[in-house]
Amino acid sequence: MSKASVSKAALPTLLAQPLQAFELRLREVLRSKVEFIEIIGEDLVGAGGKRFRPALTLLSARALGITEATLEPLVCDLAVCVELLHSASLLHDDLIDDAETRRGKEAAFRKYGNAVSVFAGDFMLARLLGLLANMPSSLTREFSETAANICEGDVFQFQVAAYGDYSFENYLEIITAKTAVLFATAVRSPALLAGLEPEILEALSLYGLEYGRAFQIQDDLLDLIADPKVLGKPVGGDLREGKATLPILHLLEGEYKEEVRDILDRRAKLEGDVSRVVNLMRSTGALERSLDELGTRARRAADALKILAPSPSRQALEDFALEAAQRVL
Ligand code: IPE
Ligand code: IPE
Ligand code: MG
Ligand code: MG
Repeated sequence: MSKASVSKAALPTLLAQPLQAFELRLREVLRSKVEFIEIIGEDLVGAGGKRFRPALTLLSARALGITEATLEPLVCDLAVCVELLHSASLLHDDLIDDAETRRGKEAAFRKYGNAVSVFAGDFMLARLLGLLANMPSSLTREFSETAANICEGDVFQFQVAAYGDYSFENYLEIITAKTAVLFATAVRSPALLAGLEPEILEALSLYGLEYGRAFQIQDDLLDLIADPKVLGKPVGGDLREGKATLPILHLLEGEYKEEVRDILDRRAKLEGDVSRVVNLMRSTGALERSLDELGTRARRAADALKILAPSPSRQALEDFALEAAQRVL
């Protein structure tokens, strides 16, 4: 991934300037007198990442008509807050998931050790609190709830794997908490900053939640079928951790349920386990059904924005969600 590599076609013209300001501010906020913290920040942030979440914040501000010069730096800081929370969760997630790579580079904890990596994530959260100190208190509440949700989602995922308590309901709860709420916060935060009305916040929540769920479903599918070199992070890890994602849940309802349950229970540790599951999800229609759900949620996200006046930024937000399925196929 190249720097600031938001890939959506409309963005270079719409967001070139604010994204550049975002990158500069992010680096500034991550400055530390301790070299290791600086290096991790530089490594993780400089390695790029798709910047989807901060792009959502910047687009949302424009789609909502929040363009006053006085609010511009605060909107930029909100985009930074969103990326800081995301990056901190990735630093912690890679250690927990024992991941090899992140954003195409060796995962931070492997290079610098667990303690340094965890503290660097905490440092990002501390900086995020500092930025929120200049904002209305509704934003502190928003980020606090979202950060708590991410932790709960991740821990609940482990709880479900530990109990073997796999269900569509639990899966929806996991992907909503660990991923979708942050997408909602990304688009809601400019509206909270400007004190906009509840109907707008509701519509933005629906957009963020449905797009975020579609995004995590897509990430979960890529974990099974992508090329790790293209993805910049390892694949097959979810099965090895006993995480039953959407296509696996479909398989657990079909004629191969015992075989798939055995694979999950032994954490896919036999040679060929992952490829067997991938073959089954292709041949039984489990992949197809997962893609259908992804598409439905992406469309629901795009439809939620109809309440806003049409604009190139609203269109870009809709396209963002609708393009979610394309990385899978
Ligand atoms: C990875 O998110 C974590 C998930 C919620 C699936 P991204 O795929 O947006 O990661 P970066 O920021 O582009 O590296
Ligand atoms: C997203 O889930 C985790 C966070 C919300 C931090 P994953 O564990 O699937 O994310 P990747 O695949 O490692 O990026
Ligand atoms: Mg992970
Ligand atoms: Mg994943």
